[in-house]
Amino acid sequence: MGAAGQRPPAHTMPGVNDDFRGAARAAADLVADYLDALPDRPVWQPMDPAERAALLDLPLPEHGAPLAELLADVERRIMPHPMGNGNPRFFGWVNSAPQPAGVLATLAASAMNPSSAGGDHADVHLERAVVRWIAELVGFPHPAGGGLLTSGTSMATIVCLAAARNRAARRAGWDVREDGLAGMPPLVGYVTGEAHSCVRKAAELLGLGSRNLRTVASDADGHLVLDALAAAVAEDRAAGRLPFLVVASAGTVGTGAVDPFEPVADLAEREGLWFHVDGAYGAFGVLDEAIAHRYAGMDRADSLALDPHKWLGVPVDCGCALVRDADELRGTFSLVPSYLRDDAAGDLGWFSEYGTEQTRPFRSLKVWASIAHRGRSGVARDIAHCTAQARQLGEWIERDAELELVAPVETSIVAFRHRPAGLDEAGLQQLNSLLPVALQRRGRVFVTGAVYRGREMLRACLLNSATTEADLRLLLDEVKSAGAELLDRCRTSN
Ligand SMILES: Cc1ncc(COP(=O)(O)O)c(C=O)c1O
Repeated sequence: MGAAGQRPPAHTMPGVNDDFRGAARAAADLVADYLDALPDRPVWQPMDPAERAALLDLPLPEHGAPLAELLADVERRIMPHPMGNGNPRFFGWVNSAPQPAGVLATLAASAMNPSSAGGDHADVHLERAVVRWIAELVGFPHPAGGGLLTSGTSMATIVCLAAARNRAARRAGWDVREDGLAGMPPLVGYVTGEAHSCVRKAAELLGLGSRNLRTVASDADGHLVLDALAAAVAEDRAAGRLPFLVVASAGTVGTGAVDPFEPVADLAEREGLWFHVDGAYGAFGVLDEAIAHRYAGMDRADSLALDPHKWLGVPVDCGCALVRDADELRGTFSLVPSYLRDDAAGDLGWFSEYGTEQTRPFRSLKVWASIAHRGRSGVARDIAHCTAQARQLGEWIERDAELELVAPVETSIVAFRHRPAGLDEAGLQQLNSLLPVALQRRGRVFVTGAVYRGREMLRACLLNSATTEADLRLLLDEVKSAGAELLDRCRTSN
């Protein structure tokens, strides 16, 4: 036997007496037990201060420990303290339960551990396929190379808006990659006040300046008002500025409102604006026939940012940037230093020519698994389950004198207030601002709060196909019961 034959298995750590296979089997059991037990546990509980401190002060170990010991640590110190988003009674922010197929895929992906930057290996080709799948799922045109996976929509937005900025600068006779923005007339973009903060962050990072991202009016239900957009564009043009971008939402983070895409696309076309859609949370809602009509015109956008790690349940992290014109993306990011020349990358080149990351994780396997396990029809069924439940919850709220729907239920976010008798507006503001944390601490349900049009509210975001009507009933019971405990505090503050 040659030297290679005497080599220990690749998973063996020198100096540690390990049973990798045994530990892997134990890990699989641990994970399966964890997922099975989730619905019967408190959704979330604050960490005990001593346990929190033990993690924060964890000493750097000088010597290695066997896998079995590490696994025991994970079981004892980590897994008892989840964020809560695996539980069917978690309705907070926009965080989903993980698809089990995606959980398993994560293990295989990390065993292969490629850098999905480019080259001729399975992960690269699979990413091209799943990006196309994502585009097909939401009905967005997909030229070869017209998109890539990202860490999330915050990054996908930076990627898309960078392409928008470069196109606008080029059309105005500037090479922004070479010369930067200094000296150019300001490029101006338009969003509503309901747009996610990642859009403003992207504008700031791209040197556009926050003040050049104008906030245009939205109507009472949170939709972009076209006349306000048209007037703002005209005003900026008259002042010598360069309108270049409009961002619409396929599901706002506050209330799940979907902007009117067709008229925005018409205006963007007329005015030569880059039309970007933020579909982080809601783009996959188009798969539900009951609400698909709201999304008409989304396919006319120049770019669409969306998050498989939200409604698709792909384990974090996974966002996706889709663009209509692949050359715009490549022209914005392509830089191939000599050490990275590689014929095996093929005509489309490296993924790193289309975004900011050079070394890139193997995200596509968990996307593939999360979709392939259910098929298109299964994904659509899960989405429709959530929207139907959200409508049901909305109806219950509307019929209940102690509750108030704050915005129409368009997708799967239900925005509402608790409105018990005997409180004036200041008291209701206080009550609804205190409720989220009070509810979270009780551990039976988890909702978060937000301010919508100046009013404190609760928002329940339904992303989990395992959520039942009984869970939703419990949510409303909990709101009233936690509210009753807070009532006196809110009265005395009046
Ligand atoms: C509408 C919307 N846009 C953008 C984002 C940011 O996405 P990410 O957290 O994946 O960066 C979110 C996150 O909740 C969102 O709901």
